[in-house]
Parts: sequence; C-alpha cells; structure tokens
Amino acid sequence: MLLEYLERVWEKERSGDAREESFYPLLQRLLERYAKHRRREIDVTLIPRKTEDCLLDLQVRGEAQRIVGYVEAKLPGTNLDVAERSEQVKRYRRTFPNLILTNFYELRLYRRDEPAAQVEIAARSTSRYTGPVLQRGRELAGLLDLFLDFAAPLRASADSLAIDLAFRTRILETRIEELLDRDEEKVSELAGLYQAFKTYLLAGLEPREFADLYAQTIAYGLLVARSRASGRFDRATVDRHIPQTNGILRQVFRYVSLATTPPEIAWIIDDIVDLLAPAPMGKIFDRYFHGGRGRDPVLYFYETFLQHYDSRLRKRRGVYYTPPQLVSYVVRSVHRLLQSRLGKRDGLADPTVTLLDPAAGTLTFIVEAIRCAIGAVRAEMGNGGVTPLLRDHVLRDFHAFELMMAPYAIGHLKIGLILDELGYPLADDERVQLYLTNALEMEDLEQSSFPGMAALSRESHAAAVIKNERTVSVILGNPPWAGESANRSEAIVKRHREGNVAADGRRDDGYFRIDGEPLQEKNPKWLQDDYVKFLRFAQRKIDQAGEGIVAFVTNHSYLDNPTFRAMRRSLLGTFDEIYLLDLHGNANKRERAPDGSADDNVFAGIMQGVAVAIFVKKRGLEKRVLRADLRDSRDVKLRWLAKHDVETTGWTEIAPEGPAFLFAPRDAALEEEYRRGLPLTEIFPDYSVGIVTGRDAFVIDTDPAELRRRVDLLRDPRTSDEALRQDRGLCDTASWSLKTAREKARTDEHREEGFQRILYRPFDWRTIFYADYLIERPRKKTMRHLLVGRNVGLIVPRQCKEEPGALVTDAIIAHKTVSAYDINSLFPLYLYPEEGRLDGSGRAGNIGRRARRLLEQRLGEEPSPELLLQFVYAVLYSPAYRRRYADLLRADFPRIPLPRDRGAFLELAGFGAILIDLHLLRSDRLDRPRVRFEGEGQSFDGIDAEVWEYRIGGYQVLDRWLAARAKRALRFDEIEEFRRIAAAIRETIEVQRRIDAARPLIP
Ligand SMILES: C[S@@+](CC[C@H](N)C(=O)[O-])C[C@H]1O[C@@H](n2cnc3c(N)ncnc32)[C@H](O)[C@@H]1O
Repeated sequence: MLLEYLERVWEKERSGDAREESFYPLLQRLLERYAKHRRREIDVTLIPRKTEDCLLDLQVRGEAQRIVGYVEAKLPGTNLDVAERSEQVKRYRRTFPNLILTNFYELRLYRRDEPAAQVEIAARSTSRYTGPVLQRGRELAGLLDLFLDFAAPLRASADSLAIDLAFRTRILETRIEELLDRDEEKVSELAGLYQAFKTYLLAGLEPREFADLYAQTIAYGLLVARSRASGRFDRATVDRHIPQTNGILRQVFRYVSLATTPPEIAWIIDDIVDLLAPAPMGKIFDRYFHGGRGRDPVLYFYETFLQHYDSRLRKRRGVYYTPPQLVSYVVRSVHRLLQSRLGKRDGLADPTVTLLDPAAGTLTFIVEAIRCAIGAVRAEMGNGGVTPLLRDHVLRDFHAFELMMAPYAIGHLKIGLILDELGYPLADDERVQLYLTNALEMEDLEQSSFPGMAALSRESHAAAVIKNERTVSVILGNPPWAGESANRSEAIVKRHREGNVAADGRRDDGYFRIDGEPLQEKNPKWLQDDYVKFLRFAQRKIDQAGEGIVAFVTNHSYLDNPTFRAMRRSLLGTFDEIYLLDLHGNANKRERAPDGSADDNVFAGIMQGVAVAIFVKKRGLEKRVLRADLRDSRDVKLRWLAKHDVETTGWTEIAPEGPAFLFAPRDAALEEEYRRGLPLTEIFPDYSVGIVTGRDAFVIDTDPAELRRRVDLLRDPRTSDEALRQDRGLCDTASWSLKTAREKARTDEHREEGFQRILYRPFDWRTIFYADYLIERPRKKTMRHLLVGRNVGLIVPRQCKEEPGALVTDAIIAHKTVSAYDINSLFPLYLYPEEGRLDGSGRAGNIGRRARRLLEQRLGEEPSPELLLQFVYAVLYSPAYRRRYADLLRADFPRIPLPRDRGAFLELAGFGAILIDLHLLRSDRLDRPRVRFEGEGQSFDGIDAEVWEYRIGGYQVLDRWLAARAKRALRFDEIEEFRRIAAAIRETIEVQRRIDAARPLIP
C-alpha cells in the first residue's frame, strides 16, 4: 500500500505536474486504504477552494461523522521545518487539535499544537528525493493510528470554548468572503443576504464586513441553538433549535442547515457543530441570573471570543460593554426618578412605563432593568407577581435595538437563559423585543425583494413602529462612541442636523444652530460622534412624548467642549432636571484624583473620559442642572457606583449660561472678565489643525538619512508589499492603499521637495516626507504659508487637558506638536497668495478686521503683524495669565486681553520678541550654552532641575527630546542643538518671571 503510494507520488512529480492539488487524491487514497485495513470507517473530504488564509486540504471524519482531524499538505520538496513555523500553520496547529502536516514524503502529526509524531517515509538525496525507498512503514502506521484514534477533548471551560470558536469563525469568515467574491453575478443566496443587509441595515457594508458579520452570526446562532438542544445536535437539524419568533436567526440557519450549503463552508460549520455538540453548556452559562451580580458569563464569553477573533473590530463598532456596577447605578437611578419625578409608584415595574435601549449590545441594561423591576414587585406584591410582570409588562414594554448580528444573537441567547431560570421559559409564539435594526435609521423598510429576507424587513417594521409611533418613557443605555461615526448615511446625517418641534409646540434648534444662528464651527466633526446622534434621537423621542427620562453613559467631552454649546443649549431647552455625573478617567489626560493618585477609566481599554447623564422631562419640575465628579481608581469608582444612585450622589447645582452653556462649574465674574479679551481666532483668522500623517513612524524621522532610505525602499520594486506592511506598518486603510501609494511614489517627479522640516514636538524639529499620497491629512491650505516664504506661525491647541501650551514655529507642524492629548492648530502670521512672487511680496498679514480696529483704537495706530504676534506670545507665556484663566484656557482657543495702552503693549511685545527668538533658537543669548555633553550615551551636565522639568503643553521638553533619540548615538549637530534648547528654556523661565513682574497684564 505504502509502496504503491510512493510510486504514484514519484510518478506525479516526474510527470512535471507540480500542482499541489494533483497529489491530494493519492494521500486521500492512502488514508482510506489504511483505515480499511484497520477496519475503521472514515470519510476523507477534499476541502474545496483555498484562499491565502485557509490552506487546509483534507478533512477526515470517523464514526457518526464526527471530525477526526485535518491534513495540510505542501508540495513535495517543501521544507517542513520552515513550513511548521509559518504564521498560518501555527494558527492551524493551535486551532485544530489533530493535524497532519506533510510534503507527501514526510508526515508530522500535531496534537493541540504539540508535535506528537514524525515520520519520513522516503529518503532524500541532497536537494531532491531520489526515489521511493521505503524506510519506515511501521512508524507511519503508528502515526496514522494515533491520528485516527483521536477523540476531541471536552471543552469544559468557557475560555477554551470561546477561543476554539473564535479561531474557527475566522476561517469561516475568510471562506464566506471568498464565496461572495467568486459569485460575480451575485445570484447566490449568500449574495442576496449580503445585498439585503447592505440595503437595509448597514449602508456601505463591504463584502469583508458582511463575511465577518455573517460568520459571527453563524457561530453565535450555533451557540444559541446548542444551548436549546437537548438531543442530537448536527448541522442538518440545527435550525429546529432556533426560536420560532426569531425570524432573522431562523433565516440564517435555514441556509446553514440546507443540503445545498456550499461545501466551501459546510466543512467548517460542521467542525463548529462538532466542537459545540459535546460542550457542557449548562456548566458554562450556569446560573447567571440567580448567581447574584457576578460577571455575566455570556458576555464574558463574547468578550473572550472577540479578543481572539478580531480585537480591532471591537473598537471599530464601539463594542465595549458597560461594567455591571455602572449599569446598576443608571438603572436604579432611573427607577427612583420614575417614582419621585414621574409619579410612577412602582418605578420600572409600573405597567405604564415603556423602556428602550437603542444600542443594547447583549442586553445588559435591559437585564438589569428586569432585575430591578422584579425586586420592586417581590417587595411590594410577593413572589407570585414575577410571572405576570414578565409576561404582561417586560415582554410587552421593554424594547431594545441592536445593529450587530453577534450581540443580537447573544442577547437573545442570554435573555432566553434568564427567563428559563426565572421560571418563565418563552413559549413558541413569544419573543423578547430585541430587534436587529439601525436605531438611527427611521425609515420602515419595504417588503424585501431579496431572496429570503422577509424576516429582516418584518424585524425592521416592528422596530420602526417603536421608533416612530410608540411612546417611550425611558431611554437608557450605553450607545456607541466613535469619533469616526459608522452611522453616516445621508438620511441619518440630515436628520441629525435638523431641529424639531416638541409636543408642547416648543421649537428646538438642534445641535448645529444656536439661538437661530448656525454654529460657527469649521469642523464640527465631534457632533457627528455616534453618542451625540443617539442622544439627539433620545431627546427627540422624549420631546415627542412630552415627558420621560433619558439615561446614557457616554464620552464626557460634551460637558465642556465649546463645539457642543448648541447641543447643551438644546438639552437645556428640552429637559427640566439634568443630572451629570462626570466619571473622568481620561487616559491621555494628565488629570489626577484630588489626593494626587491615579484617575482611572471605568472601562478597561477606553481612553476617553466617561460621564453618566440623566435627563428628566416633566411638566411642573423646576429647571435644574446638577453635577458631580468622581476621580479615583477604577475599583473605588465601581464600588461607589454599586452603592449609590441619583438620590445618594452629592450633587452641586450649576447654572450653565450662554454663550457656551458649559455643563461645568465656573466662576461667572472671572469668565466675564476673560470674555472681554479678543478670541485668538479673531486676531489670526486663518488657521488649521496640524498635519495628521496616519503613519508617523514611516514618514517622519529625527534622522533625515534614515527617512530617505525608507522612501527609497518604498519605491524599490524589489521590496514586497508584504514586507512594507509587516516591517513598516504600512497597512491599507479605508482611504489609503499601499499599492497606489507606491505607484505614485515611483512616478513622483517632485519627490525631492517632499523632504521638509517639521516641528514635531516642542523644540524637536524632524524631517517629514510631505507627500500627499503618504499623508492622511496634509493640511496644505494652511501649511503652504510656512513653505512658500519666510514666515512664522503660532501653535496652540483649541482645548487642552494639560497645561495650556503655545509655541512659535517657522516650519510646518504636526497635530500634536504641543499637546500630547488634544490636537493643536497653526495660525500663520502671513498669508501668501497662490501665485506669489518669489521674493515673498504680495503676502498679507493674517490679522482679523475687528482685531485691527480695536487695536488701532487702543494704540493710536495699527500694529505690524510681527508686533502683534510678539504681544500675543508674551501674554500666552505669562504665568499669571495662565493661572488666572486656567480652566477657561482649557476649554477653547485662548482669548487675549486687550493691552491697557501703547506702553503696556510695547513692553509685552518686547518680551514676546525675546521669547520668539529663543524658541526659534536664533537668539544670540544661546551662543554659549552652559550645558555640557561629557561622555557616551546621552548624559548632559549642567541642567537645572527647573529646566529639566520644564513643560510645554503636554510635554516635558528635554526628556521628550532625548527619549525620541534614545536608541541611537546623537549626531554632533544634535548635541549642539540640545545644549541650545536647554539654554532657551532657562532663558524662557527668566523672561516669564519678568513678564509677571512688569506692568500687570490682568486687571
Ligand atoms: C457600547 S456598546 C453597549 C452595549 C450595551 N448597552 C452594554 O453596555 O453592554 C454599543 C452597542 O451599540 C451597537 N450599535 C452601534 N451602532 C448602532 C446603531 N446604529 N443602531 C443600533 N445599535 C448600534 C453596537 O453594536 C454595540 O453593541
């Protein structure tokens, strides 16, 4: 048998037909014949069609069609030492617990990633096999016995099951994408589903994203089905275990269980079924609801799954699940406010209360609301009230929306398990009102013309009734937060910008107009954040109802960011009582708890600060805004949240007022004084945020030669795309392709002009390859003013969490040159015309008309742009000014107090001129720096502590500068530059003292 096999392999090789596929049948036959010889029933399937990602070749099944293992074959001659270390084979070894890797002459068996046996059945000469020389028949038999005897171990732990499921789902995803890709005419059922999802649920859904969504649904649907199945569990019967009322899941599973399931995916679905069939589901999802407030096993399972399946996806779709303590605080607070403010005696258990979580994920908030309502009923009425509560109130009045299939499927799974435990298993004609829909799309869908998608449109119809017709009294949850919103369809964006009329006839301007005027914002991108859209959706709904509560966990930036002033104004108009609990925890912000210890985020892995807001609308309530702040470690915050609610929180009343309507405490008199100053944007009206490259590590370097080498590499056709992706991090994005960029780089005739000086961090000038095709946002319109002629510009952030930083520059700048956390802007001093003369004439000062007029009145004449910049610069560097207006300076671009008189203006401008020369390192005060470089490494002597610790914006200047060059020896010019920087800082500190000692700047 073995000799015959080897003869045939050898023959094939000699015949010159070197395609891998032509060898498979030989191996298939060998396995089948060997099994027969051992009196074993096996089925060996050739896995059809392979992608780069999935190269498994044979699937072997044993008794009762259970999967025994897989074979991955490589061409004869392939070095298996190398092959077994490839990423792909390593992944398979981890995923499939019984795997043979072979080049047809040598076989290696892996059991759960570990090498279990290895046999070379024919000898090889120096570089090629010389011919079939049988050597190791008995050892081969041993290896095949081991392979065929394999029985999959029982996955008893949730973790290992989640990980196994994640790896398989990834393979399924790749295969689905490939199937879609192949179906050019788009006639298959799968393509129909894709079209339906794209049309009705997720505009702009890419095939890859669909494949992902669909693979996750199958995986999780199988899990739901498995948790409901008591007897036999296989692919053909799986749809029987999906609840009758869940049309969408049934639809998806009809496709899976059909005999016509394409073989390209059938094998891996079988594998998942095989994985789940023996899993002890009871143990895995045990007694969550009764088990107290411990972690939610279903959710925990999903998080582990996602972590191994695709950790980036989690971020993209805002799939962060709310800690139970925070959910509990929100739900208990809503319960209390329903009782105390809306007159609902039983709070959430009151049969007139309707509830909606529009971004429900796996139903965390709904489950907590059920728990709370049950608690109230038990206390008031007794245990007997629970079933009627669930049947007549919860199933009818608690609603939820979710956009992603996987959490949707899990949500149904979870609530099914919970209702079972509560002694109320869902009947065949009952369902929980969790709908698969885009909460922000208000349109009802037409009956779907796509094959089999009636379920999706029925679901959408039911959701549209809730969105448009049902009166909802409570809207709560943790909607997604994504600066780059995934909800950008035309209809959503249009509706989001509109005002509305409330039930009582009050007109609301919405979030983009304030007091009838459009918001004067250059780029109100933050208003497109998903959470803002959800808040607007909820606000409108309550406005229509006339009364109700919105309780959301969101990003906290809308509390005091100036861009949100119309939003705050609008919320103040709709709601009567507003409770704002700022949970802080901004990871990038250098904020601390009051005692100086860390201020953590309540979510692990989230950078933005968090806030809970509860908005109450009820006629007759006195209008009030109450605020509380929590800054502490995560543990302390979560423990606090578990113990408190709206009634036990220590609120402070605040009084938001125009023009900013800040949801933050403030000193009105100080603000008034500050507001008399001129906004920087009126002094220098043309500005833009700094450059965002999207790939700093590639296009920017402290060493120009190194940067040039990288650009050459990019242009060199011998460099593979893969190498650039892997070694240089040049990965494709939605708006950028490596291939196109390389083509452009090769034909770029102006390449040399691309190498430019950039001020990347304070005093840290680097070289950038400033080419449009490599840079995400080059901001050319503004940056060109620093490239075309002799010019300077002022850098300041609009908002800052750190010390307010300002810096002058004569080079283009990055978006985080002075702010480590926020984004900074550049205000050029002169603007050059497009077709300027080479001598720089024709330029104009970037000075606003009102600023000119006011200064002329005050000074008797209009100052030159240079003098004005010097004055502004001195103000920005005044420690007294920074201290006095610290909070206000953090909230928006600075306002500059008008000079008292000509003398004060000139005195300050004098200091500003010195600072500007120092910061551009052109002052002759820097000619003999004190700091010395004494030896190897980066040890400099003679730096005072005050100089070493000096910060500009978010950076400790000297430390940061050195850290950026820590991995290499400093060049001679860099050593000199560092010494001058240290000297410039020392002088700056001195000038700052003198500014404050001179004529008072501030009243
Ligand atoms: C931050 S998670 C919160 C989930 C859940 N409330 C919790 O805290 O556990 C946000 C959820 O909203 C979903 N989502 C995102 N955009 C949506 C949309 N337009 N309509 C409905 N759900 C959406 C996401 O899939 C995600 O499950």
